[in-house]
Amino acid sequence: MLHFSHFAGSRIHVGLTGSVACYKILDLCRELLSNDIWISASLTEAGSRFVTTDSLRALGVSPILSSLFEDPDHSFPHLEPAQQADVLLVAPATANFLAKMAWGLADDILSTQVLAFSGPTVAAPAMNPNMWQSAATQSNVATLRERGVTVLEPEAGDVACGEVGKGRLPEVKEIEYNVLRALAPRDMEGMRILVTLGPTREHLDPVRYWSNPSTGKMGAAMATAAWLRGAEVHCVCGPCAVDLPHGIPTTSVQTAQQMYEACTDLWPHQDMACLCAAVCDFRPAYSYTDKIKKDRVPEGEMNFSFAPNPDILYTLGRNKKPFQRLIGFAAETGKNLESEARIKLDRKNLDWIVANRVDRESGGFASEENSVLVLGGAGHADHLGNETKSEIAWRLWDLILRS
Ligand code: CTP
Repeated sequence: MLHFSHFAGSRIHVGLTGSVACYKILDLCRELLSNDIWISASLTEAGSRFVTTDSLRALGVSPILSSLFEDPDHSFPHLEPAQQADVLLVAPATANFLAKMAWGLADDILSTQVLAFSGPTVAAPAMNPNMWQSAATQSNVATLRERGVTVLEPEAGDVACGEVGKGRLPEVKEIEYNVLRALAPRDMEGMRILVTLGPTREHLDPVRYWSNPSTGKMGAAMATAAWLRGAEVHCVCGPCAVDLPHGIPTTSVQTAQQMYEACTDLWPHQDMACLCAAVCDFRPAYSYTDKIKKDRVPEGEMNFSFAPNPDILYTLGRNKKPFQRLIGFAAETGKNLESEARIKLDRKNLDWIVANRVDRESGGFASEENSVLVLGGAGHADHLGNETKSEIAWRLWDLILRS
């Protein structure tokens, strides 16, 4: 899960209602606390049958409210989140609690708090699949969404009662992404952004390929940061294992040619493209349909010839409309980082290029951290150094939005 320091010091109030999935919320609290986010909580009576105030307290959650009346420290516990929290999260949210939210009932600690809270509210449902599908629950969910509450879709799979269907609590990281999105500034709202990430693979035969060590981390950080800030992001991903929020549609590709086709189709509908992928510039001129057998290779050495792949960024740059903005990345070795990057900025008709050295221990492929030089078409130059890729992504968007 990506960490963005932007959220440090925010406060989230978590309301736990009665579901066996309550234990997963302990993990969520840990994760949010490790982002330096302050977490407070309320437990309904049913919620307190599945986790205890002690387990939440041990993690550092504070304050924890479980009664409207018997709390000497809080005279108006129903107003506590409204006065202190930036976001209210109900997770797990039972069918009963969603109904209370939709109807405005206020008969326990958490329902009174929800009614008194006017900030962004997120609900992560967990229940039996028939309860989720029921007309009553669906109508309550529709009402809540109409009012601006983010009600996540439950996951499909095995549920605790032994049935199979849609009703499982959404994954913890998906809840976290949506809570962070509710906390984030909306300064990229409505922007349509294409992001490419990961390597491409160019097959020599069905079991061997030519590629590079890109892990897709920088692209995932750019995509996630933009989505958190309200953008509509579409990712074209080469083969890599990155976690992206479900709200980001992805097109998975293997080869540079497939990435080229996906990007050229999507580009006319975008306001911006940010091409982070490490695209193979060449592919084997001939790809064997059967495995190359070593005893059938002529003795001595094995030779391949390579053919050039299309340059995706160059093509998007040539077809850029006046309202579109294009950001490229440049992976360089050696000392001529700035001059090499400037050549790419001009040749590919970019608005921004983000250049980094990939021949150092820290930074570059697979590393958690990066140091980059950012060049803008209008002569702009900035260094962002020795920070996590998510931190760099957040600051890059700051720079780009300010220009
Ligand atoms: N890129 C692309 N299509 C390619 C090659 C690169 O879209 N066939 C994009 C990358 O995603 C990156 C930028 O172009 O945003 C620069 O990639 P890089 O590998 O640094 O440079 P190249 O243009 O390939 O040039 P060279 O390898 O000679 O440095």
